Amino acid sequence: MDSPVTLACELLRPLPFGSSAAESESVNGGSPRYVLKARGPASASPVAPYQALPVQGPVVEEERLPGITHHLTPALPVLEREDATRKEMDARIRQVIANYTQKLAERTQHHLGYPYNLDFDFTPLEGLQRFSINNLGDPFIESNYGVHSREFEIGVLQWFARLWEIDQDEYWGYITNCGTEGNLHGILVGRENLPDGILYASRETHYSVFKAARMYRMDAERIDTLASGEVDYDHLRARLATNATRPAIININVGTTVKGAVDDLDRVLAILAETGYSEERFYVHCDGALFGLMIPFVKRAPLVTFRKPIGSVSVSGHKFIGAPVPCGVVITRQRYVEALSSDVEYLNSRDATIMGSRNGHAPIYMWYTLTRKGYEGMRKDVERCLRNAHLLKAMLERAGVRVMLNELSSTVVFERPTEEAFVRKWQLACQDDIAHVVVMPNVTLSKLEGFVADLIASRARATTTAALRIAADARAIRDDELRGASDDDC
Ligand SMILES: Cc1ncc(COP(=O)(O)O)c(C=O)c1O
Repeated sequence: MDSPVTLACELLRPLPFGSSAAESESVNGGSPRYVLKARGPASASPVAPYQALPVQGPVVEEERLPGITHHLTPALPVLEREDATRKEMDARIRQVIANYTQKLAERTQHHLGYPYNLDFDFTPLEGLQRFSINNLGDPFIESNYGVHSREFEIGVLQWFARLWEIDQDEYWGYITNCGTEGNLHGILVGRENLPDGILYASRETHYSVFKAARMYRMDAERIDTLASGEVDYDHLRARLATNATRPAIININVGTTVKGAVDDLDRVLAILAETGYSEERFYVHCDGALFGLMIPFVKRAPLVTFRKPIGSVSVSGHKFIGAPVPCGVVITRQRYVEALSSDVEYLNSRDATIMGSRNGHAPIYMWYTLTRKGYEGMRKDVERCLRNAHLLKAMLERAGVRVMLNELSSTVVFERPTEEAFVRKWQLACQDDIAHVVVMPNVTLSKLEGFVADLIASRARATTTAALRIAADARAIRDDELRGASDDDC
């Protein structure tokens, strides 16, 4: 193995204003808390590492779920210049990027498992790549960094505020890096307003919600789920009643990750009232990573709206809307966010977001798509996705595949295919014995036809292999027995 490159990084102790280096030694009392030395692998940092305390029992080393196959990522090494001329290097780089582009196009063509709308065209925005657009700080208060896109960001937030029915002077929100960040923020706002609150979330909740509980050292309860993937309302009621002396922070799923199940917000609010929680003693965060943007356009769906006593809603922007970078939106009530806002002088803005620097390109992508499609375009996309999801379900049923589709969802759940190569080809998300296809606006009927035909062929191959394995196993046993008999003869 090559010897590691030695990177020396010496950070000098910060000097208090007006002091010399010698003075600073005594200021720090001889204990060099701020000296960080890193020199290759043998370095020992005198900085006390942050010690995370285990919250939910010990972490099991190397624990791997039975269904997981870890495909390790190969590296694409940074090209070494060696004797190549600049022109030759440029040609090599172009070749790498051309190959990669081809691979992306093929992978985009065969993608069905993750809830991403891969159909967009941002060609008119290409010129913006030249700018380092950063919305650091609070979206509503400009920092001194001028290369930002806050005006687009606020425009998008206003669009969402209208969608989720909260008055312009009552909401606060921002464009996040993804749905996970929206959940981290929503749960944090809940925790800061109800510091003694217990977090309740169903077992089928996205892992980011329980991650928030770990990060914020919150007590959290996993609530059982129904077969549909919805929260088990009776279990929730029982846990809320048992813990009635402490406030409740509840995560509502507006579309679970695997089954696309939508928790009934009205029913949960009714349970809170029944179990004696007044509005000041609960906080509801709605995780609408995917379906939060679809549900407002579905007629029969329970409304997610700030007219109900909810605290926050978050969605991912790269999912239903579609964007070339991960992004999302979180909206909460202005009065709730006060609890975690503070001024930061060097920004000349306020800090109430999870991240510091924030992607300033993302709001422009979202603004562009929402402007081009409008509410009506989004409604049509939702309609097409739900129709195609039902067609996929019907095709799978006809092919003899067991399938499930929640009424309000475009996530079609079916038996997990046995061929790993098939799963990889279509980039399916699998859990236990199920897989799903998330029908997004870029998923056309002809793509679904190709998928179903491919699945039928894969199942036939798998069945043939399984059937012939019986004969092969029998033959192996017989051969063993014959070998045993001839050994006895010796
Ligand atoms: C229900 C739900 N919440 C949150 C997330 C996290 O979203 P992101 O991948 O944008 O961080 C997902 C992702 O699929 C999800 O399905």
